[in-house]
Amino acid sequence: MKFSKFGQKFTQPTGISQLMDDLGDALKSDQPVNMLGGGNPARIEAVNELFLETYQALGNDGSFSEDINSTATSSMANYSNPQGDAAFIDALVGFFNRHYDWNLTSENIALTNGSQNAFFYLFNLFGGAFTDEQSESVDKSILLPLTPEYIGYSDVHVEGQHFTAVLPHIDEVTHDGEEGFFKYRVDFDALENLPALKEGRIGAICCSRPTNPTGNVLTDEEMAHLAEIAKRYDVPLIIDNAYGMPFPNIIYSDVTLNWDDNTILCFSLSKIGLPGVRTGIIVAAPEVIAAVSAMNAVVNLSPTRFGASIATPLVENNAIKDLSDNDIKPFYQQQAKTAVTLLKKELGDYPLVIHKPEGAIFLWLWFKDLPISTSELYETLKEKGTLIVPSEYFFPGVDISDYKHAHECIRMSIAADKDTLTKGIAVIGEVVRELYDGAK
Ligand SMILES: Cc1ncc(COP(=O)(O)O)c(C=O)c1O
Repeated sequence: MKFSKFGQKFTQPTGISQLMDDLGDALKSDQPVNMLGGGNPARIEAVNELFLETYQALGNDGSFSEDINSTATSSMANYSNPQGDAAFIDALVGFFNRHYDWNLTSENIALTNGSQNAFFYLFNLFGGAFTDEQSESVDKSILLPLTPEYIGYSDVHVEGQHFTAVLPHIDEVTHDGEEGFFKYRVDFDALENLPALKEGRIGAICCSRPTNPTGNVLTDEEMAHLAEIAKRYDVPLIIDNAYGMPFPNIIYSDVTLNWDDNTILCFSLSKIGLPGVRTGIIVAAPEVIAAVSAMNAVVNLSPTRFGASIATPLVENNAIKDLSDNDIKPFYQQQAKTAVTLLKKELGDYPLVIHKPEGAIFLWLWFKDLPISTSELYETLKEKGTLIVPSEYFFPGVDISDYKHAHECIRMSIAADKDTLTKGIAVIGEVVRELYDGAK
């Protein structure tokens, strides 16, 4: 069978699809596996209990009855309009206006089938071929102001890849009074001097905050500076808030969340513990919401309403925020502490530096001058039943062939239970110690 160019682009093996298959296959094997590789959220008892209660209440609410006004019947037995489930959108408008001073209306919110779906739309809306005022064709890219960045952005463009990325400043910092940590910061000199920015070849700026894979949280100053640059060049600032506030609020540094007409904020229900309901939320200017709704109509008719039905009461009564503040955030904060303690115990005397854990569900480890690349380390760890993700996948838009740092880091998930964390980190410790000792 012959596929179109579009078909070929979306069916070609990508680094990440191979890696994800590899991780999936390893999990299917009959050998025990320490899974520190995936992006699944943890199972947290209080979270599961609340979702189950809400789900049961939805089922008991005259489920699929004659009464068209019952919540379950009206949402599950009907398409919503392409913008998404109106009751959930209204609940979100009330929720955001209660907690932030944003003055949103329902014209500021659209739903998508997960936020990955939102990035597919947004990166193709703002990146790719444009026609300028002189009717000339211009290729615009999405500016990633700080890489490493989320692996899932890499292949979403319908044609080619349109990213311009900036490498970070690396600052050695302390964490909880301890040495052995670093933090990435945006290199604004490099960013402001990018020819693509000055010559009008940037269509939008995008960052995840907290960042997958590193757990970095861009500071308020960095965000204000990015917002100012975005306005100056008349492009939107897209903030991927999949791990951010107010839900799931897996963010430990003291920062604020802002929105204005030039900002596109993307939220998700996945990391509160509902990745299977595939619900993404976009908060943006009405023009962007209308564009996303039009794309929803073509691609999906209307976005799924299941997640919306579960989340509506939790947004109306603020339970989603309470759950995030009181259960989800403290859970991951404790997991990060446990993992750091275990890593220091295993590798305290070796050149391991850890990105300061500021949020998200990962730790980012930098093995300075490791004698092999972390892609090779990944293979060795896999043979020993421990799965992580090597760093090379997290640099969309960067030629990393001469950038040593991009081959010296790994992402490890901290969502696993304590036993798995302990065993997985013990294997990492043993293998990495041997590598450094062998090179002496
Ligand atoms: C930073 C980031 N953005 C977006 C997504 C996509 O999430 P979803 O499509 O489940 O909402 C993920 C998933 O891991 C992520 O880590």
